[in-house]
Amino acid sequence: MNVPLISPSVLSADFGNLARDIDTVNRSEADWLHLDVMDGVFVPNISFGFPVISAVKGHSTKPLDVHLMISDPDRYLSRFRDAGADILTVHYEAATHLHRTVDEIKRLGMKAGVSINPHTPVTHLSEILPFLDLVLVMSVNPGFGGQSFIYPALEKLRWLRRQAESNGYHYHIEVDGGVDLVTAPLATEAGASVLVAGSAIFGSENPALTISEMKRSLK
Ligand code: DX5
Ligand code: ZN
Repeated sequence: MNVPLISPSVLSADFGNLARDIDTVNRSEADWLHLDVMDGVFVPNISFGFPVISAVKGHSTKPLDVHLMISDPDRYLSRFRDAGADILTVHYEAATHLHRTVDEIKRLGMKAGVSINPHTPVTHLSEILPFLDLVLVMSVNPGFGGQSFIYPALEKLRWLRRQAESNGYHYHIEVDGGVDLVTAPLATEAGASVLVAGSAIFGSENPALTISEMKRSLK
């Protein structure tokens, strides 16, 4: 089993001390920095947009892993690239012509990811998998940090790993929502190669230590 990449979610950082919290991540063993963009339409919450992402880009030494929870993402792909996104993930449920969207993300020079909500069968991704750099399995209903892990997500991770092994696909398998020191090893064992965690990292006494522990919390 490989050591997972860790992508701390800024949603649970202290927005009044954002530069400080990004510095903490910079000095940690984290691999990416996860940014959740919410539009109040696709999900029942609003988070932040381009100015915040640009500011974070100016401070972060880690690649920006941008998770779009927005309707009609095609309208904004180039603006997220300009703001500093390195990996751009759209929701399967929010894109009508997903193959075109994925192509456009790559044409703009970013890595392309697709995410699915807890109720969406992972098999709906079978036609798009060969074109993806990343698949993001939501293990909570998107919109908020601090929710509990939905365990059937583990079976989706297993299926994605089997598909990658049997077809020679090279996508990252990322899991997002309710990931902590208890669920991280279960997700890694099931096939996750990237763990997103917000409250478990920024809500802990020592975020850098929690990141290290999560990287090594193998089952
Ligand atoms: C939820 C977001 C997550 C969120 C995870 O919609 O996509 O990235 O920050 O938060 P935790 O780790 O607290 O569940
Ligand atoms: Zn997210």
